[in-house]
Amino acid sequence: MRLLKQWLFPLFVCLANGQSFDPNNVKSPNQFDPAHVGTNKSSGTTYSNPIMTTNAGDPFMVHHDGWYLFTYSTNDNITLKRSRSLTDNWDTAETKLLFKPDPESGDPWSTDLWAPEIHQIDDRWYIIFSATPDADSPHPLQDAICPFECPAVNHRMFVLESDGSDPWASNYFMKGMLNTFDQFAIDGTYFRYNNQLYHIYSCWEDTYSAWPANLCITHLSSPWNVSSSLTQRRMISVPDEPWEQVPYGRAGRLATNEGPQQLTNPKTGQNFVVYSAARVNTPFYCLGMLELVGDDPMEYQNWRKHRDGCVFHQNPDAEVYGTGHASYTTSPDGTESYVVYHAQTTDDPTPDLYRTVRTQKFTWNEDGTPNFPKALNGPFPVPKGQK
Ligand SMILES: *[C@@H]1O[C@H](CO)[C@@H](O)[C@H](O)[C@H]1NC(C)=O
Ligand SMILES: *[C@@H]1O[C@H](CO)[C@@H](O)[C@H](O)[C@H]1NC(C)=O
Ligand SMILES: *[C@@H]1O[C@H](CO)[C@@H](O)[C@H](O)[C@H]1NC(C)=O
Repeated sequence: MRLLKQWLFPLFVCLANGQSFDPNNVKSPNQFDPAHVGTNKSSGTTYSNPIMTTNAGDPFMVHHDGWYLFTYSTNDNITLKRSRSLTDNWDTAETKLLFKPDPESGDPWSTDLWAPEIHQIDDRWYIIFSATPDADSPHPLQDAICPFECPAVNHRMFVLESDGSDPWASNYFMKGMLNTFDQFAIDGTYFRYNNQLYHIYSCWEDTYSAWPANLCITHLSSPWNVSSSLTQRRMISVPDEPWEQVPYGRAGRLATNEGPQQLTNPKTGQNFVVYSAARVNTPFYCLGMLELVGDDPMEYQNWRKHRDGCVFHQNPDAEVYGTGHASYTTSPDGTESYVVYHAQTTDDPTPDLYRTVRTQKFTWNEDGTPNFPKALNGPFPVPKGQK
């Protein structure tokens, strides 16, 4: 699908609003000087972004037992990487294949595997990911039911479980589909609150609505078993702000909330869901934020949306665009908070995304909300406690 023609006019309108897009200045996305990728090997005291130059969307990082565990969208399989260091070049980190479906099998999880995450729940590790049986080419008669093209209409959420308590040594087995009522579901994550487990994912209002993409929540009785019915499912965010819509302010098609991720303030215990807004292949893709302000995450009113725009966004001065789908971790000594996100190095909204993995330290505001930095390339001091 060629997006560009439809984009040009509205994007020039955006310039008046201070958003930058110059279609005459498109750069090759994937040329990186190895000396500027990750930890500076000669000093060991600084690092630069990106920390991985492979085309890798939807980075998910967790720190466990002295190791950083990292997974991301490969499209074809579930790949886990690990390193003692958050900022060393992840292109060359140890790699383990966890799951590789046969793309010809027609299994519901067989193609276009997106946004895997790895979570420790009780004594096991769970991989939660999105996939579809049809490589995002639904039958034309099915596609025709949607008001707009809906290539991802058959994407659903799946869960793999480890056979042991060691995330690296374990083998992983399919536990099945997470019930999303046979409706579109991508970017699902676990949300933990008051000893309860929830599934938060990007959803449509009904089977064929296609857009907007919202955030939905259901209650889980186990990491793979949904206990809510469709009528108990709740939407907790819809892309109703102009900065969540592309082109800016146009509701409906391409208005998106996705990539939700729980972020807990380690001091105050406040719970946030930081999500990605706007459209993934544009410079405007950014992070938005919800805060849980009541006791029941299943109530729409208990979520307060940060309405003053993106909390983390593109920085054209540093040639960092489309900053989104983040996860959160800490320095090795646990004292610093880090956001791990993907971004593009071109502001051309090409359908062929090229995303690299990046990380930056962030701090916490007095009111307990996260204070994200400007997206930059560094060099930055390495995380505290990194050897
Ligand atoms: C890496 O460190 C060396 C030695 O301190 C310094 O000369 C060089 O500029 C640094 N490179 C980057 C990309 O920061
Ligand atoms: C997993 O998928 C990626 C993307 O296609 C590919 O580069 C990689 O080689 C695959 N890994 C294995 C072990 O098949
Ligand atoms: C899922 O949970 C329901 C109750 O919420 C229970 O009846 C059912 O047995 C569970 N299924 C599995 C596969 O664990």
